[in-house]
Amino acid sequence: MIFEILPARLHDLNALKTLENEVFRQDAWPVLDILAALIFPGGIHLKAQFDGTIIGFISVEENLFDSIAWVSLVGVAAPYRGQGVGRSLMTAAEKRTRRTILQLCVRRSNLGAIHLYEKLGYQKKEIRQHYYADGEDAYLMRKELRSKPDFLL
Ligand SMILES: CC(C)(COP(=O)(O)OP(=O)(O)OC[C@H]1O[C@@H](n2cnc3c(N)ncnc32)[C@H](O)[C@@H]1OP(=O)(O)O)[C@@H](O)C(=O)NCCC(=O)NCCS
Repeated sequence: MIFEILPARLHDLNALKTLENEVFRQDAWPVLDILAALIFPGGIHLKAQFDGTIIGFISVEENLFDSIAWVSLVGVAAPYRGQGVGRSLMTAAEKRTRRTILQLCVRRSNLGAIHLYEKLGYQKKEIRQHYYADGEDAYLMRKELRSKPDFLL
């Protein structure tokens, strides 16, 4: 399968909300949060597109004056999983971030996502108890990215 990784834009809002509802269910963001992520500066928002359809999405928050960027959402539509889309979204975001540390929270039960992150070099750093609305704990996972020379920032 040949897919593209492209910046997500405002005109992708409806497709992203549909994908998000399907992929994240109870953890899905309200549409206003997705809208805010797409219009306000300070983040990386990428879509994976196959044959004109959005099949995956990643959102990374970058706060000013903070060396840590947060992967706040990453998801792939079920029929397209296991084909490298999630890995491509993660590595594309890693290449684009100006920060030296990328971290995220993941449900302790989400073994598939944890496997993906560990394969990409993320390490479990701490447990955040009752992090999710249903009371499940999260692992905080972190990866230190190679320092980038100033001219790339
Ligand atoms: C987690 C998710 C993004 C992975 O996307 P994907 O496109 O299926 O992942 P990839 O095909 O790029 O897999 C990359 C690597 O992770 C591993 N992996 C991915 N999903 C896995 C699973 N469910 N079980 C075991 N390993 C898995 C693959 O084996 C692969 O390793 P390999 O390249 O050595 O074979 C996707 O399953 C998803 O959207 N899940 C629901 C939403 C979610 O849980 N998001 C994360 C919230 S923190």
